[in-house]
Amino acid sequence: SDRKYDPYRPTSFDQITKDAKEFCQELMPKPEEETRKLALLQKLSDITVEVFGEAEVLPFGSSGNGLALANADMDVCVFLNPKNGSEEVSPVEFVERIGDRLEKDPDFENILQLKRARVPIVKLNHVNGIACDIGYQNDLAIWNTRLLRAYCRIDERVRDMVVIIKIWAKRRKINNPYTGSLSSYAYVLLVIHVLQRRGVLPNLQTIVAGNGKVPFWDCQGFNRYFFEDIANLSRYWQPTPESQRQSIGELLYEFFRYYASEFRYANHVEDTEQAQSAPAADSKPVVKNRYLFCIEDPFELNHNVGRPVDRYS
Ligand code: CTP
Ligand code: MG
Repeated sequence: SDRKYDPYRPTSFDQITKDAKEFCQELMPKPEEETRKLALLQKLSDITVEVFGEAEVLPFGSSGNGLALANADMDVCVFLNPKNGSEEVSPVEFVERIGDRLEKDPDFENILQLKRARVPIVKLNHVNGIACDIGYQNDLAIWNTRLLRAYCRIDERVRDMVVIIKIWAKRRKINNPYTGSLSSYAYVLLVIHVLQRRGVLPNLQTIVAGNGKVPFWDCQGFNRYFFEDIANLSRYWQPTPESQRQSIGELLYEFFRYYASEFRYANHVEDTEQAQSAPAADSKPVVKNRYLFCIEDPFELNHNVGRPVDRYS
């Protein structure tokens, strides 16, 4: 479809590519920021162990997948291990107890306990300047973080694209699921989808070593399988020669062209699993959710990552 006459297509993408690359360099977090994040992670780990006994605190989201901009928030997830002496608590109870304990520590500010969110979390700011979300027992988030990291390792253009789209969305104030727009995670999925359509990325969830059947690796009832052995990916998949020639400028143009004029919001589902846009699976009227923008989560297939989008945004 992009071969159709397109009056807006620039004749050269060189300047956009050059600017975009410089921009990506500027927006990279400095090593000093990484050090502050690690220190905060250690502190949260100590506090969690103090409150619940045995516990593991893992970074996920942009702190875990290499897609962070400078000054990005840190997402962490706490895993309690009831077999080894820590208690099993409900997500709401977890949020209350860790939230109350953090309140007593002068190093933490603006502590919010979001108990009624789809995934209950504690939000806070650390005095060292890092904002942090703390979640609980969210295995799927750890796995989808690893999936995104794997896509980044395939081609360095993935990170560049994501960084530009994220900063664009932040500056346009359309990067906040709490106020009716998309999460960063949603934007990353949109970028991956476009890159899959262009042949820059494969679908890691359908590639199987030895070309066998896709296995079912259960995680909270969903299949978390994907091909993660990126060093050996070329045995099973190669990018098209044309896709290798595409510059960041060209791919950015394609991103905006696709979502502005090709993607049919009324009946398309954004699906990183099937790079060809599939018609929305559910044609029955559903009253519970709005389906203004459907973005299928790669693992949690009944989770529409585009659900926060309201009519205005
Ligand atoms: N996540 C999810 N489902 C969503 C939103 C987020 O599972 N609807 C999980 C994903 O694991 C994602 C992580 O939460 O990687 C963090 O999401 P988000 O903060 O939106 O993305 P980041 O890549 O961390 O972006 P930013 O740097 O802007 O925070
Ligand atoms: Mg984040």
